[in-house]
Amino acid sequence: MTDMAEDTDLTQPDPVLASEIHLRRTLGPFSLIMIGIGSIIGAGIFVIAGNAAAEHAGPAVLLSFVIAGVGCFFAGLCYAEFASMIPESGSSYTYAYATMGRSMAWFIGWNMVLEYLVSAAGVAAGWSGYFVSLLHEFGFNFPATFANAPLEGTGFQHLHLTGDIMNLPAVVLIAGLSAFLIVGVQESARFNGLMVLIKVGIVLLVILFGLPYVHTANLHPFIPPNEGQWGKFGVSGILAASGMIFFAYIGFEAVSVAAQEAKNPKRDLPIGILGSLFICTALYVLMAVVLTGITDWRTLDVPDPVSFAVGKIAALKWLVPWIDVGALVGLASVTFVSLYGQSRVFYSMARDGFLPPAFSAIHKRFRTPHIGTYITSGVAIFLAAAFPFDVLAELVSVGTLLAFIAVCAGVMILRVTAPRAARQFRIAYVWFVAPAGVIVCTLMMISLFLSSPDTLSRLIVWTGIGIVIFIAYGYWHAAPSKWTVTNED
Ligand code: ALA
Repeated sequence: MTDMAEDTDLTQPDPVLASEIHLRRTLGPFSLIMIGIGSIIGAGIFVIAGNAAAEHAGPAVLLSFVIAGVGCFFAGLCYAEFASMIPESGSSYTYAYATMGRSMAWFIGWNMVLEYLVSAAGVAAGWSGYFVSLLHEFGFNFPATFANAPLEGTGFQHLHLTGDIMNLPAVVLIAGLSAFLIVGVQESARFNGLMVLIKVGIVLLVILFGLPYVHTANLHPFIPPNEGQWGKFGVSGILAASGMIFFAYIGFEAVSVAAQEAKNPKRDLPIGILGSLFICTALYVLMAVVLTGITDWRTLDVPDPVSFAVGKIAALKWLVPWIDVGALVGLASVTFVSLYGQSRVFYSMARDGFLPPAFSAIHKRFRTPHIGTYITSGVAIFLAAAFPFDVLAELVSVGTLLAFIAVCAGVMILRVTAPRAARQFRIAYVWFVAPAGVIVCTLMMISLFLSSPDTLSRLIVWTGIGIVIFIAYGYWHAAPSKWTVTNED
C-alpha cells in the first residue's frame, strides 16, 4: 500500500478518523526544551538586534533584552501553569477557550496564525537572505529575481511590485521542512535537536571568543541621549527596541503546543517552557554585550549584524562563515517549529469546530496532522514567496503579544473561577506575576504601534478577516464554551 493510499481523502475529511487516531506521545523534557530553543533563537538575535541597537537604543539594547525577557518570563510562568492544567495542543487558544469563551478563543486562535504561520513565512524569507549571501561567499551568485519577494514596502497601502519573481529559497525551505513534519514527530524532534545543538554551539562560540574583545569605550554612553523623536534613543528608544527585541523571545510557548505528544505533559511542559526561556535569555544578554561591546553600535544596522561585528576583529575572521551557518540553521529551526506549532493549533481548533474537520485528520501511518500541515505549508509558501521579512515580522510580534496578554489574563480568571483546581505547576505570587505580564506585554505592544503605526492598521484588517471567517463557520460549529476547569472538591 502506498503512502497516498493510506492518506485520508482531502475532499472527504473524516471526523471519525480524527477522533480515533491520536498523536503519538514521544517527547520527554529534553526534547521539549529543544523544541523551545529551536523556536526561540533565530532572526531576532541574528538580524533584528543590530537594527534595534543602531536605530533605537545603542548599548542600552541590553536593557531592551532584559525588559522583553522579563515580560516573557511572566508570560512563560502563566503558560506553564496553564500547560500543567490543560495539556492540550491548542496552547493559548485552548486556554482562552477554557476561560473566556468561544469568541475570545477564536480571536486568540486567529492571532496565533500570525504567531506561527506568518512567523514561519517571515523567518524563511530572512533565511533566504543569509543563504544567498553564503552562496555568494562561495562564488555562486543566485539570480536575484528568484531570491527576492515581488512585493515590498511598509503598510498595505504602500506595498508595491519590485519586478522580482519570487523568493525561491524560502519556498524550498518550507516545502522540505514540511515533508519532515509529515513523516513523524519523533523524527522531527531528532532533526530539530541537531539544528539546536549547531546554533547554540555557534552562539556560545561568539560569546566565548567575543567577550575578551569587548571594549568598555564602545559601551559609553550606555544610554545615548534622545534625538527629539519618540523611540530614537533615550528611555523611549529602550522601550521601542524592547518591542522589536520581543521577536527574539517568541517561541518558548511553542513547547505548550506539543502537549498531546509529550510523555508526561503536566510535569514536562513547564520544564520545557521555562527551561528554554532561561537558557535563551542568558545567551541573549551575553550576545547583546558582545554585539555592542566589540564594535561601534552605530554601524550595526546591517542584515547580518553578528557576522558583521565579529568580522571587524581580525583575529576572529575565521568565525564569520560559522556564524552564517549558525544563522542559517537557527532560522531554519525557527521556521520548522513554527510550522509544527501552526499545524497543531489548527488541529485543536478543528477538533473544537472552529475549522473544518480536515485540519484535524491524522495520517494513519505517520500519526501526524498531515492535511493541516499541507495547508499550513501551502499558505506559508505563498507568503514567503511574495512578502519580505520585515512586513511579516511586525505582524508576528503583535499577534504573539496579544496571545501572551490573553494567557496572563486567563490565569487570573481561573484563579477566581476555579481556585482549587489541580495545578501541577502553580505560580507563586500570581497576583503580581500575571498583572505584571499583562502590563509589560501591553507596553511592548504600544511601543510597536508607536514605532510603526502600520502595524495597528494591519492588525485591524487581520481581525476583520478573522471575524468574517468566525461568523461564516466557527460560530455555527463550535460550542459556546469548553474545557470547563473545576475545583477538585
Ligand atoms: N524568536 C524567533 C526568532 O528570533 C521568532 O526568529
